[in-house]
Amino acid sequence: MTMQSPQEIVDLAIGGWKAQVLFSAKELGVFDTIADQALPAEAIADKCQLEAGACARLLQAATALGLLEYGADGYRCSPAVRATLVEGCEADLSALIMHVYRDVMPLWQKLSDAVREGSNRWKQVTGSEEGHFQNLYSDPEALDTFLGTMHGFNAETAMAVSQAVEWRGDERVLDVGGATAVFGHVLLEHYPGIRVTLLDLPEVCDITQRRIRDEYGKADKIDTQAGDFLTEDLPEGYDVIYLGWVLHDWDPDTQVRLLEKCHKALRPGGRVVATECALAEDGNGPELTTLLSLDMLVSTDGGRESTAEEYRQRFEAAGFPSAEHIEMPVMRDAFVAVKN
Ligand SMILES: C[S@@+](CC[C@H](N)C(=O)[O-])C[C@H]1O[C@@H](n2cnc3c(N)ncnc32)[C@H](O)[C@@H]1O
Repeated sequence: MTMQSPQEIVDLAIGGWKAQVLFSAKELGVFDTIADQALPAEAIADKCQLEAGACARLLQAATALGLLEYGADGYRCSPAVRATLVEGCEADLSALIMHVYRDVMPLWQKLSDAVREGSNRWKQVTGSEEGHFQNLYSDPEALDTFLGTMHGFNAETAMAVSQAVEWRGDERVLDVGGATAVFGHVLLEHYPGIRVTLLDLPEVCDITQRRIRDEYGKADKIDTQAGDFLTEDLPEGYDVIYLGWVLHDWDPDTQVRLLEKCHKALRPGGRVVATECALAEDGNGPELTTLLSLDMLVSTDGGRESTAEEYRQRFEAAGFPSAEHIEMPVMRDAFVAVKN
């Protein structure tokens, strides 16, 4: 929608201030302090060890933004904050908030340079010549928040894929770049006869193995294989290869090479199921997907968002006769391609 008023421009210009109120309230422990009880500003400042006057201003802004509620007993979290940003909440977005704030925003601040040069900003911001995942994973805290972010996004996608895509119920599935294995965990809740192997970088497999055993209790149904899909072939003999938000991390040629590896590894009649956010055919929406595409620009090694037609062409270039585009009621759509 095009903007009509100067106020909309001003609101956009100070959007970063609003986001910073959210990041700071989370980082300073404000939300956890008033998750279950309302407290006056001075008590919150005291518990969070903040300067009282400055804390009061942060609380006022957070209330004006709708993050907090204010009443006779003081400030308390809004229902949305209680549901997503306090310890032990059901739909925890804390990792996402911290990943965006600490790891992503420094790269975004160099967006103009990224657009000038068409490349990510890791070297400019950290001095590192390493790739995106090597940079993220070199810091245990960043690895942790990245995996937490993927975990949150992946659960709703996994639920949608288990419903929108047809499953026999006894497939052997290779989840390439599966991160925290939440896809296999959710799929197995619907189809207990399926077996899943998760392939990811060694740092990720070490953490995910523990999660599969201790959190999901599914060590007999999901195993992990440490590997590098850029430098190694994929293991063979699977009925389905799942690529959840993996293609968009890479440039189009690398996407085709990865799909060729999938084609080689699948048995005849086997399928690739990929989930991605598809851009509108003219590229100018949806808003979140256009922003994700810039996020891929500033952070990854050539990654980008693409239209459904561009994904279909890449499947065909990799040897699949066609790819079906299945729209799903979540952020991502599914692309399903069968090997002849
Ligand atoms: C954007 S995350 C996607 C996570 C998950 N599949 C989802 O649907 O949300 C990409 C995943 O690919 C993994 N990955 C990146 N490069 C890899 C490589 N060369 N070999 C194996 N896994 C890799 C990352 O560790 C990460 O778990």
